Amino acid sequence: MPKTFFITTAIDYTNSPPHIGHAYEKVLADVIARYHRLKGDSVFFLTGVDQHGQKVQQSAASDRHKKVVQGILQSLFDAGQIYKDKQAGYYSIRQEQFLTDKERGPDGEFGPEWGQVEFREEENYYFKLSNHKQWLLDYLKKRDDAVIPDFRQTELRNAVEKLSGDLCISRPKSRLDWGIELPFDKDFVNYVWFDALTNYISFAGYDPNIDNYEQQPQDFRDRWENVLQIIGKDILVPAHGIYWLIMLHAIGFPDEQMPQLLVHGWWNLGGAKMSKSTGNIVDPFALTDKYGAEALRYYLMRGIRTGKDADFAEEQLISCFETDLANVVGNLLNRSLPMIWNFANGKLTKIDASNLPDGPGVPEMRNLANSEIPSALQIYERDLTKTLRIDLAFGQPVALGLYCNGLIQITAPWKLAKNEDQQTVLDAVLYHLAETLRIIAILISPTLPKAAHGIFDQLNWKMELSGNEERFSLADAEWGGLPDGHVVGKPVPLFPRIETTEL
Ligand code: MSP
Repeated sequence: MPKTFFITTAIDYTNSPPHIGHAYEKVLADVIARYHRLKGDSVFFLTGVDQHGQKVQQSAASDRHKKVVQGILQSLFDAGQIYKDKQAGYYSIRQEQFLTDKERGPDGEFGPEWGQVEFREEENYYFKLSNHKQWLLDYLKKRDDAVIPDFRQTELRNAVEKLSGDLCISRPKSRLDWGIELPFDKDFVNYVWFDALTNYISFAGYDPNIDNYEQQPQDFRDRWENVLQIIGKDILVPAHGIYWLIMLHAIGFPDEQMPQLLVHGWWNLGGAKMSKSTGNIVDPFALTDKYGAEALRYYLMRGIRTGKDADFAEEQLISCFETDLANVVGNLLNRSLPMIWNFANGKLTKIDASNLPDGPGVPEMRNLANSEIPSALQIYERDLTKTLRIDLAFGQPVALGLYCNGLIQITAPWKLAKNEDQQTVLDAVLYHLAETLRIIAILISPTLPKAAHGIFDQLNWKMELSGNEERFSLADAEWGGLPDGHVVGKPVPLFPRIETTEL
């Protein structure tokens, strides 16, 4: 039975213009999803658009989602986890929240970022968030990879330690005419979090009428078993790290079923936050038109250390493409295939370097098959599952490409070809180049699916050869897949250089 892996991303505001930060999050999720498919896991991928915000007066989500939200609210209300209270204070109309003294500037006033602020007295419903503070601290102590990277888990723990007060979950209908009605009070609608966050489970098949997690539908439990939620650093505290984990706990999710949170950093521009108001937002579609989706995907994955911020720069996108892809992987392919045609008529002879007498390049070939590739695979797997250092994972196929370009320099196949005694060594070198290219194609496929297909086509790697249904599978990334006598395809330039005059 394939393992199920469930990946979610945050919900983008629908009223935002195209934004490279949002694209990054989706590509990151897509790459991790493709990696899991490569491993043979069955992947459930959930992403969405925001249907909230007083400004975007959209109808509330589908019926199914509405039932989940109301079901959860009703059972928490029945369990005494929700109560009504009166709040009086200063309210920011723009941010749609009550303000506290913490929000006052040094002059004692609320700054312009809050827009119009007015005094309000209002009754609302509250969820007993702080009742679960100790549970959350214990959970974070018990599970050291609850949040990735580590420093974000520390940040979350510090925030939980300071947690006080409960969560306001409603707005009077008189003031908000959209939103999901509270099932226990028709004069109120739910406000934001029980609606926005619960989409992660409602669309995965959660049944709100079943309190006992173990009795939830099998489909839902299968999906929720390995769940990775990808969010930006700004929505860890308090939304996902505090509200969401506590909500799940309050409705009976066991600790082992808490989602893992992958918190990514931000792409900035010239050291500053990208911002709609100043108009300095990078548009991902303009870049895909100019450079192609794969060059952009590659830069988004390699140009930022997962978890940290990075500056977005078009020159970096180009140099990343040229350094890793054109100069290393593309170059290896463009050199290897013509050599296989020129020196062996396109036909590979499968040779194990362990059986060759010592000579130039022979130790390097043994090392490639016995050590470089197994260790690249190990690091690749670790970086894509445990540490989620996607930037490093995709350095592995590049390192293998560099190693092979070095092997070409050391062995100089064009010289070996002039000496009949060296035929076996020459055949071994050609086999090692083609076989490593095949493994490189598998490893780059989550980020560069098109280029990976291109390499496979040029190697003439057919599905019948792997015996699998999928063209790419991580299990095929083992040494020796290309059979003896295999004939490669015709070379075609794969990563044409980017024309930089337009910059
Ligand atoms: N709607 C909320 C999320 C609710 S989830 C139940 C939201 N939306 S957002 O449109 O502002 O952001 C969507 C995602 O993009 C968030 O994870 C956010 O962190 C991420 N990013 C927004 N700007 C970003 C960058 N400049 N760089 C990288 N990611 C960024 O927050």
